[in-house]
Amino acid sequence: MSEQKKVMLSGIQPSGDLHIGSYLGAIKNWAGRAESYDCFYFMADMHTLTVRQVPADLRRRTLEQLAIYIACGLDPEKNTLFVQSHVPAHAQLAWVLDCYTMFGELSRMTQFKDKSAKNADNINAGLFTYPVLMAADILIYQPDYVPVGEDQKQHVEICRDIAHRFNSIYGEVFKMPEPFIPEKGARVMSLNNPSSKMSKSQPEGCVFMMEKPEDIMRKFKRAITDSDTVNPVRYDPEKKPGVSNLMEIYAACTGRSYEQIELEFEGKGYGALKPAVGEAVVEMLRPIQEETRRLLADKAYLESVYRAGAEKASYVANKTLRKVYKKVGFIAQ
Ligand code: TYM
Repeated sequence: MSEQKKVMLSGIQPSGDLHIGSYLGAIKNWAGRAESYDCFYFMADMHTLTVRQVPADLRRRTLEQLAIYIACGLDPEKNTLFVQSHVPAHAQLAWVLDCYTMFGELSRMTQFKDKSAKNADNINAGLFTYPVLMAADILIYQPDYVPVGEDQKQHVEICRDIAHRFNSIYGEVFKMPEPFIPEKGARVMSLNNPSSKMSKSQPEGCVFMMEKPEDIMRKFKRAITDSDTVNPVRYDPEKKPGVSNLMEIYAACTGRSYEQIELEFEGKGYGALKPAVGEAVVEMLRPIQEETRRLLADKAYLESVYRAGAEKASYVANKTLRKVYKKVGFIAQ
């Protein structure tokens, strides 16, 4: 039966505490898919080494991320949840794909340009070849869809280019994956700088999944809005980026349309919108936070989940790896 299901796969780097950008852009779009898809979701711990990490923090965040995945509705009985470094086939395929990826195409990656500008003293080879490891993460599970936020679209595109190059030499080895980007929440912006993406590197504009309600409310109350006071609550990302971002978060949390939100705040100003969005986020996060805390108290259970996940993921990944090794001319073991 599961052979006929389409496959979905995605991952998040445990390089910082999870925030509502990664929740609304990615995880929320993963939950509830397991009835129709074979789903693989992982903690991309290997990717985090491209920037220096404190080992103990990386371990804590990897486990917390797993607990959050489960608390967000990813039932480990129905979804394969695992740690990237527990499935060595990702790194093994990445080496092969490195040899089918061009220096020029990697040099054009926006994230490489951004991150090398920010980490000028540590432009390591991993930062450069990062999209190839990501292509291996994806292609090794032969997925149909890769649910990600807008910023990862370019990486899914280079993955398709690599797959296409490999397939045109060796035949149809890899399935062509499609990025799967949510309608609302694909690009959540920073609350105090709506021209840049919400990210952990700007903590004041970033709402973390495990943050206390009073801190969340404070951040929303201080959110930057726009100077137009005549027609305050209108969705217009170009002219009103701050308000539009708040509306997008509100829409993604409550399922309301922009028109409904405009009506709700008709005649009211930003003063009413900001705490309303804050409360919607607090309420959305409350059950997730409670369940995450409960799960984190049961380390043995979390261990059993990631062990079983690695076993299931390895089984699928090794099948693709064997096929690739054979195609390129390695002798079978
Ligand atoms: P990462 O860890 O930076 O982000 C994880 C996911 O969250 C989305 N996201 C956002 N969406 C909306 N608004 C935001 N402000 C925001 N910030 C983050 C990202 O688009 C992503 O979907 N390279 C990947 C991790 C990865 C991966 C993979 C993903 C490694 N291998 C294979 C898919 C498939 C990354 O760094 O995402």
